Amino acid sequence: MLVLGIETSCDETGIALYESRDKRLLAHALHSQVAMHEAYGGVVPELASRDHLQRVLPLLEEVMREAQREKAALDVIAYTRGPGLAGALLVGTGIAFGLAFALGRPLIGIHHLEGHLLSPLLSEDPPPFPFVALLVSGGHTQLMHVAGVGHYALLGETLDDAAGEAFDKTAKLLGLGYPGGPALAQLAESGQPSGLALPRPMLHSGNLDFSFSGLKTAVLTQVRNADPKILSDQVRANIAAAFQEAIVEVLVAKSFAALQQTGLKRLVVAGGVGANRRLRQALIERGRTRGVRTYFPELQWCTDNGAMIALAGALRIEAGIERPEPATGFSIQPRWDLAAVGQADPAVRSEMPSEP
Ligand code: KG4
Ligand code: ZN
Repeated sequence: MLVLGIETSCDETGIALYESRDKRLLAHALHSQVAMHEAYGGVVPELASRDHLQRVLPLLEEVMREAQREKAALDVIAYTRGPGLAGALLVGTGIAFGLAFALGRPLIGIHHLEGHLLSPLLSEDPPPFPFVALLVSGGHTQLMHVAGVGHYALLGETLDDAAGEAFDKTAKLLGLGYPGGPALAQLAESGQPSGLALPRPMLHSGNLDFSFSGLKTAVLTQVRNADPKILSDQVRANIAAAFQEAIVEVLVAKSFAALQQTGLKRLVVAGGVGANRRLRQALIERGRTRGVRTYFPELQWCTDNGAMIALAGALRIEAGIERPEPATGFSIQPRWDLAAVGQADPAVRSEMPSEP
């Protein structure tokens, strides 16, 4: 089955071609809008939609050329149906339906987070099911129990800011550009985290939920208190390092508590913050002492891309969870609960053990 994947939920246009028969990604292409949004300090939804519109078809041609396939050979078109920016989603969805209609092929609408969740399966050494997934993106922070394709149970999630959002907002406070996560992580490399006492929100909350907005406020206080008026590079680097340590410590502790609660020994990290080096290192180190193996998608699959959407489409169809639909009228789901696409196992959510 030859599956085309189209991702346009936020600020990256991603197109990919996946052959499910031999589990192979034939080609993929990506355009990041980061440079365009940088001037505004964040994603401007209308600009995002317009840019997707200009990029999707040229990227599609590029992917077909690279894979040396004709569009007529496509079996299914998978597209991101939500969650995301409504206008941006409409572009990918509209093009997916147009193509499907013209080619007489069916479509499958994919939940963006399911794409992230399954993206580690694109690697050469994919994690076997079941596993615990730590989903850390710009919009979401969730711990999920993943029993198989389409079998997801939410173990815990953020009550306010997502981890990536906290990175981005804190980076802004430190005068770094957009997106702030990678810039903050880089600044943190030259900083000393130990001098600053930042909170570890909800570390001992007794459940697997997160909260990161207080951490951002604590950084704001540090920035305000800093003297002289203009923060020295070293002070900024120290704040960045302390912030990163705080957020990493909470993510690691809750991930291992989730593993203990479920009795699983495999952890999968997905989403943009999964690219963070310090987080990767801390998870691997803790895993070594607990007999846990941590799987990371390759860096190129950590952030948004079309490959994870094509893969999720192929896996959902193969698993018999969903049949692709013919191209008739379409809708998008800018707000969409991931639990709605899986079959939650009610036995999974129980109380967190007191000693993570
Ligand atoms: O998964 P993603 O590409 O998009 C969403 O679906 O949200 O995640 C983007 C988020 C942004 O908040 C970005 O700042 C963060 O991931 N991010 C990082 C790093 N690379 C990307 N955060 C911390 N450290 C990084 N190295
Ligand atoms: Zn994403």
